[in-house]
Amino acid sequence: MKIQIINGPNLNLLGVREKSIYGDTSFEGYLEQLRARYPAVDIAYYQSNVEGEIINKLHEIGFSYDGIVINAGAYTHTSIAIADAIAAINTPVIEVHISNVYKREDFRHHSMLAASCKGVIAGFGMDSYRLGVENFLNK
Ligand code: DQA
Repeated sequence: MKIQIINGPNLNLLGVREKSIYGDTSFEGYLEQLRARYPAVDIAYYQSNVEGEIINKLHEIGFSYDGIVINAGAYTHTSIAIADAIAAINTPVIEVHISNVYKREDFRHHSMLAASCKGVIAGFGMDSYRLGVENFLNK
């Protein structure tokens, strides 16, 4: 079982940025715990602040991996190009958000990506990623 987690812009600053919204754990720290919980699962991780690099990663692994968990950050709300990439690949994609985007500004309420995704998980803190990964394990 091969699962790819993709984090988009500003998520390299988890644990540092807006801690009251995103918490004080770095993603690397969280990933270590997640990998320890599921040692039999190959959980790959990629982060980029660049839209085209996220698209390239989706193309690279989107025909061979079993599942993709993506937090596209603010590109969630703007990127037709990432939505098209998700629609173009075979691997199912789950959109996740750390914060409950529906409790926040109106511009965060719409996702360009959701219609191309298997499902959306938002508002469970870092655990949103675990819930996404577990969906692929339980299928
Ligand atoms: C986010 C929510 C987005 O609106 C925001 O731009 C982010 C993080 C989240 O995980 O809650 O960068 O995707």
